[in-house]
Amino acid sequence: MQTQTQTSSTSVADTFPIKGTDYVEFFVGNAKQAAIYYQATFGFRWTAYRGPETGHRDTVSYVLEQGKVRFVLTSALRPDHEVARHVATHGDGVRVLALWVDDAAKSFEAAVSRGAKPALEPHRVKDASGEVCLSAIHTYGETIHMMVERQDYNGVFLPGYEPRSNEFPIEPVGLKYVDHCVGNVELGEMNRWVKFYQDVLGFKLLITFDDKDIATEYTALMSKVVSNGNGYIKFPINEPAKGLKKSQIEEYLEFYRGAGVQHIALATDDILFTVDTLRKKGVDFLYVPDTYYEDVPERVGAIDEDIEDLKRLNILVDRDEDGYLLQIFTKPVQDRPTVFYEIIQRKGAKSFGKGNFKALFEAIEREQEVRGTL
Ligand code: FE2
Repeated sequence: MQTQTQTSSTSVADTFPIKGTDYVEFFVGNAKQAAIYYQATFGFRWTAYRGPETGHRDTVSYVLEQGKVRFVLTSALRPDHEVARHVATHGDGVRVLALWVDDAAKSFEAAVSRGAKPALEPHRVKDASGEVCLSAIHTYGETIHMMVERQDYNGVFLPGYEPRSNEFPIEPVGLKYVDHCVGNVELGEMNRWVKFYQDVLGFKLLITFDDKDIATEYTALMSKVVSNGNGYIKFPINEPAKGLKKSQIEEYLEFYRGAGVQHIALATDDILFTVDTLRKKGVDFLYVPDTYYEDVPERVGAIDEDIEDLKRLNILVDRDEDGYLLQIFTKPVQDRPTVFYEIIQRKGAKSFGKGNFKALFEAIEREQEVRGTL
């Protein structure tokens, strides 16, 4: 099997309209400190808060924003809470990939009638700023999709949250929106979840990568990318493939204790500035050797950026039939080798950097080697 790119037909009706990513919520061990990390390093603004001070007794949540990217960091205040159990099992990780919809009740009913497992029945929540309708369905692992209908709401985030602002100066790094969110699922489960997104949420299969595309000497994985009707939501789904040693996907599944979100790709219009600033703030990126840059001119042709700048910042570049893209990957951002970030700048390219897979996986293997998990 070879890599295939399928262009979705615009004549097909969108059976599950989604306006975009609403937010990504992480369940973490210490939301207060995690919030400082995202403000101080990634330059997020603190915009809203919910916790005991706002009359919410069991959990605390910090809302952070930059461009259209909205993260929510939630911790439990008692050990028997669902959030505490989630963190005990998975470590810090993504619990909610929230989708912005016009009608959360209709979306929920459509998804459930097509086979989705309900997580939260549609219900309306209100405060002085208006009201929202929320519903949720399960996806891979313990991850859920919250559906958020917010046209009748003009508060800071959701009812119950109060506005907050940074208590120290922050430096935004130019993050614009969530480009894609990648899930790792267990061996043999990729096609089941691709079918889930196709059948239940009306997504299209965009690209297929097999183990010949994504293999190094030691490890391999398979990946399929699904995308919603308007193309704003892209979910690549990975599963491990047979290799000589333990793949990065197997390492993730072992440490996350099951399927879950592997990485979130955040888009920028100026990756040189974004990465330069992130590095100065102490964000750790995967290292790719200088030899990677030797064949860049012949592989990708003319680009606007100076190769020396890319080399200095260790940014990767790839070209497809529509243009080129620049990308870089952080190391995991919590103690377990699970969730990490991709910073991506698209200059026409609609793909995911296939030309970088080998260099990238070798970089991850070097990290696995150090952790003793290869
Ligand atoms: Fe990615």
